[in-house]
Amino acid sequence: TWASVVQGPPDPILGITEAFKADKDPRKINLGVGAYRDEHGKPYVLQSVKKAEEAIAAQNPDKEYLGITGLPEFTSRAALLAYGADSDPLTRGAISVTQSISGTGALRIGGTFLARHYPHAKAIYLPTPTWGNHIPLFRDSGLEVRSYRYFNKDTIGLDFEGLKADLLAAPEHAVVLLHACAHNPTGIDPTPEQWATISDIVKERKLFPFFDMAYQGFASGNIARDAFAVRHFVAQGHQVAVAQSFAKNMGLYGERTGAFSLTVADPEEKARVDSQLKIIIRPMYSNPPAHGARIASQILGDATLYAHWETEVKGMADRIISMREKIYSILTHDLKTPGTWDHIKNQIGMFSYTGLKPDQTKALAEKAHIYMTSEGRISMAGLNGGNVEYFAESVDSAVRG
Ligand code: LMR
Repeated sequence: TWASVVQGPPDPILGITEAFKADKDPRKINLGVGAYRDEHGKPYVLQSVKKAEEAIAAQNPDKEYLGITGLPEFTSRAALLAYGADSDPLTRGAISVTQSISGTGALRIGGTFLARHYPHAKAIYLPTPTWGNHIPLFRDSGLEVRSYRYFNKDTIGLDFEGLKADLLAAPEHAVVLLHACAHNPTGIDPTPEQWATISDIVKERKLFPFFDMAYQGFASGNIARDAFAVRHFVAQGHQVAVAQSFAKNMGLYGERTGAFSLTVADPEEKARVDSQLKIIIRPMYSNPPAHGARIASQILGDATLYAHWETEVKGMADRIISMREKIYSILTHDLKTPGTWDHIKNQIGMFSYTGLKPDQTKALAEKAHIYMTSEGRISMAGLNGGNVEYFAESVDSAVRG
């Protein structure tokens, strides 16, 4: 029956973990998937999450189904986190929000909602490069995937001129996918001034902004700062869609905790949009898992736990920033590795686009047992005091060939 099914390629990100696991060398390092590791290279469960779980266990919750759009306390607190307490649509009851199977599920619900209900051409513009999963995800949602320039390989920085030109040339009403902060894979974000310009162009061209916000708090260590782009667009009167993930900022990876939201005209429109979100979700997975949403809701709704969580998010962000500085310093000052490495410390968030070429990343895997995506993206969280020097020395050897 399945004789004509062809072998598919491994996933460009999750496939790396498989290669890493198969490698038996004790020096091996996995810098592929973006999952936080502590200073000993171990997965990290936040203390605030453990405390939230204790509080939940004490409530002895049942295992009943959640509603189709999830836990109401969670979704309202998630919206508050993203939009901020003084957000106009939030205070007017004009945000339609549903729980989702983390950020990927949120994007997929949003893609499907747009494909079904957006009254204009169904084209979405993605930055080049973007998170690899965006492309099949939006294509499978029924949108036509197009691209806008984002990365300048000569400066290893933002191609702001290319970005502006491509958004100005996009047809009216096109959807534009924006990484709210900590752009994946490059680690390069627009400045606040550049965001303001992007907002003006989006308004002028009547584009529809869809934010992927997978790293709120995790990028700079500051919740509000990382929400700047979303909140600025909303303050400028844009209607927006937002996909949120709690995988990174609460370390809830496997709990699949996220939210999808849309700003709408008023509570009456919200009721109609909510009903259509339910019609999309019900045949896909019926209703979302409860545990992660309970954890996030507990943390977001309790001032003490929230403050503890903020400290921990900042701790993760700061550890990553310290790794950036360490690599930069070893490559530039100690090893005098050819090339410039300023971008490593200027980039933000979990990922760094190192500028390493595919043959160099291949050599790093084969000779040094260091795994990263073939485009040269590394997850900074995979580095720590125990392996950063070995990593930098290996990069030096790969660059010198
Ligand atoms: C990544 O880009 O590594 C993460 O967002 C995890 C994933 O699902 O790809």
